[in-house]
Amino acid sequence: MRHPTILWRGDQSGHCELIDQTLLPGELRYLELHDQEAMWDAIKRLAVRGAPAIGVAAAFGVLLGMKGQAEVDGPGFGARLEQVCAYLASSRPTAVNLFWALERMKARDRREADRPVAERHRALFDEAQAILREDKETCDQLGRHGAELVRDGDVLLTHCNAGALATAGSGTALSVMFAAKERGLRFEVFVDETRPLLQGARLTAWELMQAEIPATLICDNMAPWAMKQRGISRIFVGADRIAANGDAANKIGTYGVAVAAKAHDVPFYVVAPSSTFDLSLATGAEIPIEEREPEEVTEGFGRRTAPAGCAVWSPAFDVTPAELITGIVTEKGLIQPVGQAQVARILGS
Ligand code: MRU
Repeated sequence: MRHPTILWRGDQSGHCELIDQTLLPGELRYLELHDQEAMWDAIKRLAVRGAPAIGVAAAFGVLLGMKGQAEVDGPGFGARLEQVCAYLASSRPTAVNLFWALERMKARDRREADRPVAERHRALFDEAQAILREDKETCDQLGRHGAELVRDGDVLLTHCNAGALATAGSGTALSVMFAAKERGLRFEVFVDETRPLLQGARLTAWELMQAEIPATLICDNMAPWAMKQRGISRIFVGADRIAANGDAANKIGTYGVAVAAKAHDVPFYVVAPSSTFDLSLATGAEIPIEEREPEEVTEGFGRRTAPAGCAVWSPAFDVTPAELITGIVTEKGLIQPVGQAQVARILGS
């Protein structure tokens, strides 16, 4: 991707810059974030979104929240870090990468607890940079493993945006497509528009077109019919949180795609880094599902499309049960068949 989704300028007293994804595809504009409140707001309103990118944003949010803390004493530094992490954790509930990154920042500080505050501050900076760097490397590994599953002539389908914009690197599900293209495979991709916020139409179609991968946009309700009429041969999606048994939460609508894939005998793959697994949850029933404001459904993008006062239910994610998932591509290898034992085996490797 020519334009990095998220980056940090300067040392630990610097600032974060990220693409404001709410403006795409019409306008490519970077937001400059100088405090934790600005980062919280960017995550909440999906200026930065997608599980791995949210993780990197959280780590940078910690650096923003810890600015100006060089003068406090050790306990003061630790207390402030707890406070900043709790605040950032309240921005969105489903993508576990957010909590994973915050935990990682706190764990790094615990390891440095005996050192002077200035050094602890520097260590947090190093940790955030490591999270960014590792995410890039992981995306490339996901692409390499996933491309093994793509066949010449495939007709792929994807839901939401699991591309470069959802990570600090080349993406998860889309990284597979970028890697397959690099290998010279010929294939096309059907892109679900992804109601209500249109991450598929606005972001995935944009990314695939820039990469010169043939992409056809469809409304979400056309996906089962595309499987029947347009020969969809494989499906790749991302994930926001995967339980220990392989149940996977992803953008609302993914479950329906998986059900239709089963009915049409189309292999359905989830592509996700190990940081998206939450092994503390036995099944997907325990995954917290974000519910968003009704206005995103009734007057999305500024035009009212439902009567005022109409009741709305707007879960932002759903959970696809493991039995509907053919395989989960991770940076450590392919989990197939999907179940508790195989998840533990591959992630432990
Ligand atoms: O609400 P969003 O746009 O943050 O939801 C994003 C998704 O559901 C993605 O599919 C998921 O995070 C995978 S990202 C590589």
